[in-house]
Amino acid sequence: MSQVLSHQQLKEIAEEFGTPVYVYHAERITEQYKKLTDAFAKTDTRFFYACKALTNVNILKHIKSIGASVDCSSINEVKLAVLAGFAPSNILYTSNGIDFAEIEEAVKEGVHINIDSLHNLEKFGKKYGHSYPVGIRLRPNILAGGNLKISTGHDKSKFGIPVDQLDNILSLVKQYDIFIRNLHIHTGSEIKDVDVFVKGIEVLFDIIPQFNELESIDLGGGFKVPYKKHDYETDIHLLAQKVGEAFANHPNPNRKHLQVWFEPGKFMVSECGYLITGVNVLKETNATVFAGVNSGFNHLIRPMFYDAYHHIENISNPDGEEKKYSIVGNICETDTFAWDRKLPEIRENDLLVFYNAGAYGFEMSSNFNSRYKPAEVLVKDGKAQLIRKRDVFEDLLRNQVIG
Ligand code: LLP
Repeated sequence: MSQVLSHQQLKEIAEEFGTPVYVYHAERITEQYKKLTDAFAKTDTRFFYACKALTNVNILKHIKSIGASVDCSSINEVKLAVLAGFAPSNILYTSNGIDFAEIEEAVKEGVHINIDSLHNLEKFGKKYGHSYPVGIRLRPNILAGGNLKISTGHDKSKFGIPVDQLDNILSLVKQYDIFIRNLHIHTGSEIKDVDVFVKGIEVLFDIIPQFNELESIDLGGGFKVPYKKHDYETDIHLLAQKVGEAFANHPNPNRKHLQVWFEPGKFMVSECGYLITGVNVLKETNATVFAGVNSGFNHLIRPMFYDAYHHIENISNPDGEEKKYSIVGNICETDTFAWDRKLPEIRENDLLVFYNAGAYGFEMSSNFNSRYKPAEVLVKDGKAQLIRKRDVFEDLLRNQVIG
């Protein structure tokens, strides 16, 4: 049984820190990481937590303490990882559409880098030649992922260098004697079917013989987690088995040992997170009964942006009579979290909790409507600790230049 925070614990946190508040459960992250390392015990694998999902430095420190490495998607994430104490050799920067200056900064930090455009690869070759081992982010032309907005490997995606441009890659590698140590692909998020990863490995196996200094292949992230009861979770054990079989069936022609890298984001932190909100208003209308909470897409945008389902519980009245409610926010836009969802009777000031709020929750939040970003709390060893203060009015003005 997976660990969850009880209603009682969540109510106490709401009482102590106020709402809206994001709550993360450290032991749940550890549990997810262990699932991965246990399943892949027989393969030489490394897991780089894709920290774009949740970057609070206290979370990064916890991730470091359990032995995982970290994958970054901006130079600032690299700097946060350094601040959290990760050694450069445990930090990966998988870039996308960035300025070469950022790559130069990443080189100064000494971290692993995956380059995602021919232009940056050429600049890299010119400047560093063979001196700095580097990875290439490839676009494998595979369509996968929960929906198009979170699919990144298909043939119309901006991400990576299309594999069909292999000749261009090879001529740059040759011309500048670039040390290619890693080949990367990431096909999308919420991938149910483990065969997608196998397809990706097959794409890589076709081209591996062209890179004789390769040390690893990197299959990105994208493992699906359940968002509702009986929802699907990527079968990590089956994945480990199939990755093992793929290697056995395609013996590496260079006879070199290749480590397998993954970059899980959601899988590591989605389920550790809860967003606790308070009910401001109830509105009975002909269409539905609205329960308006003190939050909105400024705090959790996934339902509106991706039509994502987030389980909601009324922790103030769990045994109340079930009725249908539409849960909405207080933003001046249509910020519907759920339409006609059955929930125990909701009253003003009740606490509604959104589950699976750890990944891409706080991280995608904003100050839209000049509202404050929520506080963040980490529960570890049974203790709840504030890890980010709720915004205050001065935060809204911090960078404004008032004439
Ligand atoms: N590696 C790379 C290069 C990525 O682009 C991503 C996610 C990951 C790893 C981690 O993927 P994950 O394991 O979290 O699925 N905001 C969206 C998800 C966007 C993912 C973008 N890239 C959402 O809330 O569903």
